[in-house]
Amino acid sequence: MRTTVAIIGGGPAGLLLARLLHNAGIDTVTLEARDRVHVENRQRAGILEQGTVDALRSAGAGARMDREGLVHHGVELRFDGQGHRLDFPALTNGRSVMVYAQTEIVKDLIALHTEEGGPLLFEATVREVEGAATDRPIVHYTHQGKDQRLTCDYVIGCDGFHGVARRAIPESVRVTFERTYPYSWLGILADTPPVYDELIYAHSARGFALASMRTPTVSRLYLQVPNGTDPADWPDERIWDELDSRLALTDDPGWKLARGRISAKSVLPMRSSVTEPMRYGRVFLAGDAAHIVPPTGAKGLNLAASDVITLARALEHARDTGSAELLDAYSDTCLRRVWGAEHFSSTMTTALHQDPAHSPFDARLQLSRLRRLATSPHAAAELAENYTGLPISA
Ligand code: FAD
Ligand code: DHB
Repeated sequence: MRTTVAIIGGGPAGLLLARLLHNAGIDTVTLEARDRVHVENRQRAGILEQGTVDALRSAGAGARMDREGLVHHGVELRFDGQGHRLDFPALTNGRSVMVYAQTEIVKDLIALHTEEGGPLLFEATVREVEGAATDRPIVHYTHQGKDQRLTCDYVIGCDGFHGVARRAIPESVRVTFERTYPYSWLGILADTPPVYDELIYAHSARGFALASMRTPTVSRLYLQVPNGTDPADWPDERIWDELDSRLALTDDPGWKLARGRISAKSVLPMRSSVTEPMRYGRVFLAGDAAHIVPPTGAKGLNLAASDVITLARALEHARDTGSAELLDAYSDTCLRRVWGAEHFSSTMTTALHQDPAHSPFDARLQLSRLRRLATSPHAAAELAENYTGLPISA
């Protein structure tokens, strides 16, 4: 098979890129290792920055998001038993975020692409990329038990943190910057209405908790847990009791969450990682294939979107003008935004979690930082600008 752009991975990065390139009239073939049901049902992110929302709309993939997504104009920071609301539009000149699950974005993009896009092959596992430094790289993959080759002009690695595309950048060129955190998240999906009509990020002496949502009847809730936690050690009642404790309000001591059936339970480790450069020859990395963030800042999916928006513009520019200028700038352009999001995600994470190595002095500093966010419009504006999303450069 032959195409202009071979996309490895049919997660949000690969699918949005395929859509943007289809709209620009550029041929693609997308190869996804897992089956469609698996890809559409993987529970992950839920918060879309304004720029991601705008991009989905202008790509023609925003209709259901606009009907079913929930626009949020703020978040609550809860600490010392008190809630403090941050008003995003007031702090950012009118910006907001949207709650619309990654599962739903993926379903919408797959449906559109199946109707009118280039080939999207499920259960097609890429083994290797050959000839990254040549004009005709070849992607070797296995589909329906047979080894296949896809020849193309460009290869885009949208194959996530455990993908193979990163390996096409020689080790002598590739540098990875990494940090792991001494805690993980236990995440649940529960059939119960959201605690509140916006998200609550809670700091407590027992550890961090986050109350998020998927729909007006489904909640997504997270608890900080030690690394290596087995979800089996967290029966449902223990989870609800812990959420009640960590989200407790001093002024409303009898308050409890409405409990509901828990339909999913999993533990996710927290890691920051950036691979540089994000391009080598004809191979470009986008999304989790190049970088991951701890989830506290809700940035992973949004960074994947901004990478592919930047890349689609660069590929279109190269096709229209014959100039590789924007493709050559791709890695540096993305990395500036990536490091901004890495910084924000790391700051949010360390501001809100209990670190087992912290001294009482560190604990006082942490509370002082949270008080500053709750009382200074300047400090709050810094958080709000980052949370609603830094600009996406061309
Ligand atoms: P992915 O979504 O990982 O997609 C990569 C795709 O490539 C996958 O479909 C995979 O099957 C495919 N693939 C991999 N290898 C190959 C191969 N060799 N050949 C072909 N296909 C391949 N972010 C948040 O903001 N909030 C959250 O709560 C949150 N929770 C998360 C929970 C988990 C368990 C994980 C892993 C991530 C979470 N994230 C969260 C991050 C967010 O979901 C990711 O940043 C986002 O999915 C990135 O999209 P992507 O398309 O780059 O990568
Ligand atoms: C969700 C996940 C996050 O990491 C976050 O910061 C906010 C919301 C969510 O899954 O809804």
